Amino acid sequence: MSNTNKEVSVLGLGAMGVVIARLFLDQGYKVTLWNRTADKADALVARGAVLARSAAEALRASRMAVMCVYDYRAADAIFAMDGRLLAQLTTGSPKDAREAEAWAHRHGAAYLEGAIQAAPDQMGRPDTPLLVSGAQAVFAEAEPLLKVLAGGIVYLGEKASAAAAMDLATLSSIYGTMLGFLHGARIAEHEGFDVAEYGRIVAGIMPTFAGFLQHEGAVIQSGDFAITQSPMRISVEATQRILQTAQEAGINTEFPAFAAGLFQRADAAGLGGEELAALIKLLRK
Ligand SMILES: NC(=O)c1ccc[n+]([C@@H]2O[C@H](COP(=O)([O-])OP(=O)(O)OC[C@H]3O[C@@H](n4cnc5c(N)ncnc54)[C@H](OP(=O)(O)O)[C@@H]3O)[C@@H](O)[C@H]2O)c1
Repeated sequence: MSNTNKEVSVLGLGAMGVVIARLFLDQGYKVTLWNRTADKADALVARGAVLARSAAEALRASRMAVMCVYDYRAADAIFAMDGRLLAQLTTGSPKDAREAEAWAHRHGAAYLEGAIQAAPDQMGRPDTPLLVSGAQAVFAEAEPLLKVLAGGIVYLGEKASAAAAMDLATLSSIYGTMLGFLHGARIAEHEGFDVAEYGRIVAGIMPTFAGFLQHEGAVIQSGDFAITQSPMRISVEATQRILQTAQEAGINTEFPAFAAGLFQRADAAGLGGEELAALIKLLRK
């Protein structure tokens, strides 16, 4: 089952797929390519990759294939995979991943679900994060090859859906932060601040904030919401002040209204005297 002859097929040559193929070429792999729009392979073919005439031909060419296309609808282009190992790096939902694994198994292929947590120009580094899940033996076979793409692999166990679920949980965290950041940028520009300076200040507090998030995750897991770091009532007040500031400034109020509304409901439910993370009790309802 090992991939000792260093060969791999790459299906999908968008912004991410091109980088994936290039990283394998850099490491001396025999790389077979397929992309719906064939001419995106030209520069890689010039560097020694082989362009297959169809997705099926690309899949037959190597024991292992990495797929990275726009979404799972695009991924349906795959077929005829007997005896192959597919590493699916296309972003999807846990249900998408479960269905793709069942589909691959019906077609005689081993399956791994992967979630790239980096931009194309961050790929191929020793610390590039990649979440992976699927059968342990399949992961053991694919790990050396996936390490070419990302040194920071986190294996999340046998359930194929795990990588997709953890990816979306992480993205939820990022988009929540991003929305708050953008509202903060409106405060900054309304007050006449240099928004780039605001970005630098936010970047400066991120390591501390990351430690705080880790703490709140541990609190939720423990089920003990006694105050250890940040009382909920502080956030009830702070989000009210952000909302008030938006109203006074006449800027968009959607984000603070949403955040302040949640914290007020938590307070009304009697959670104000607990650790901030107790808000999850409201979200569980
Ligand atoms: N870029 C990032 O920063 C990043 C980071 C983490 C994860 N990802 C994930 O990586 C995956 C690919 O992202 P990307 O940035 O490479 O996207 P992209 O640049 O938009 O490329 C999309 C790829 O999907 C193919 N495709 C789209 N619809 C198709 C269809 N109906 N049939 C066959 N192929 C189709 C495109 O083929 P054509 O060339 O023919 O259009 C192209 O190869 C996504 O799931 C994304 O969420 C991306």
